[in-house]
Amino acid sequence: MSTVVIFSPFQMKNITFRNRLGVAPMTRMSSPGDSIPRQDVLDFLVRRAKNGAAVVYTEAIVTDYESSQGYPKQARMTTQRQIDAWTPVVQRIQSHGAVAIMQIFHCGRMAWPDINPAGRVIAPSAVAPKQDNPMTGKPYPIPDAMGPFDIDHVIRGFAETARGAMAAGFDGLEIHGAHGYLINQFLSVYSNKRTDAYGGPVENRFRFAREVIRAVRPAVPAARLLTFRISNWGVADSEVSLFESREEWQQMIRLLSAEPIDAISLSTYDFTETAFGTDQTMSRLTREVSNLPLMICGGIYDQSSAAAALRDADLALSAKSFLLNPDWVDDVRAGKMLPRHQSEEANVAYTDEPLL
Ligand SMILES: Cc1cc2nc3c(=O)[nH]c(=O)nc-3n(C[C@H](O)[C@H](O)[C@H](O)COP(=O)(O)O)c2cc1C
Repeated sequence: MSTVVIFSPFQMKNITFRNRLGVAPMTRMSSPGDSIPRQDVLDFLVRRAKNGAAVVYTEAIVTDYESSQGYPKQARMTTQRQIDAWTPVVQRIQSHGAVAIMQIFHCGRMAWPDINPAGRVIAPSAVAPKQDNPMTGKPYPIPDAMGPFDIDHVIRGFAETARGAMAAGFDGLEIHGAHGYLINQFLSVYSNKRTDAYGGPVENRFRFAREVIRAVRPAVPAARLLTFRISNWGVADSEVSLFESREEWQQMIRLLSAEPIDAISLSTYDFTETAFGTDQTMSRLTREVSNLPLMICGGIYDQSSAAAALRDADLALSAKSFLLNPDWVDDVRAGKMLPRHQSEEANVAYTDEPLL
């Protein structure tokens, strides 16, 4: 019975996930001015906890005021007002029995200068994505290649934001190393053309991620969770495989698994797809070289897809199903016929109408 696996608890440290279904991080662009999400956006997260999700990830929270923001009205976590706004949300999520994790990110070359107070665009190398920015209809600006001061400053932003998240009581923190944003830009030769210690061989391209992890870990108490999200695709130039081979991917995962993190969150378009010309899925290739707990996301929409995803992962995250269906956990339990939602349907995330 697939529900046995899906609804069995999972333990990470002393933190219990009551089942294997979690709300994937979803940016909502609802935080004008003070960088605090709209109340109905916060209530949406609480409702997902009330309705049975084991873990609720927040939207990606940007890590500084200079260059980290990639979309209008993103949230931050470095002022007392921001911390005070999230604290009751975290308490409500926890009181409904779910684990609350804040995702933090810097968008790197995906930045949009007009929406970053300092108007800067920085990245590993001075190379822009090939496609235009769909939000502006214009090319992405050529970023400044980050110098040592930029690297240090950005890492401090991650650590500071992590402290904010912990002050608000989150059970964990996620470093967003996926989807073609800054950390992912360092990991991939597609965007990292550096010839210094941060570019070239896999170990060097991993260096920035390692420095972020090691700066953030002291802010996250040992009893709480630090997760790292990674993907082989980015939201710009999305057809590009950011890693070139199974060997490269597995070497990166080995390096990541040696760091003081508690889980890897793997993001795919479709968890069933095979990767790098092998007959294995991304989760299988990841599992082969890592003993860390693994979360998988991408095209999980009903009981049978959730059960299939959990063959090679510990937790199954969904974005669109949780976004569009407040009763998704119950519906999965009941084995209902459920739709696999299309990307366009997710645009409701960006309307001002409160979602159920
Ligand atoms: C509205 C929306 C916002 C998203 N924002 C984020 C984000 O802030 N951080 C992130 O890591 N992924 C983000 N994603 C990607 C999802 O977490 C997920 O990886 C992707 O939608 C595939 O999962 P699905 O097939 O269950 O929707 C977003 C997806 C959607 C639909």
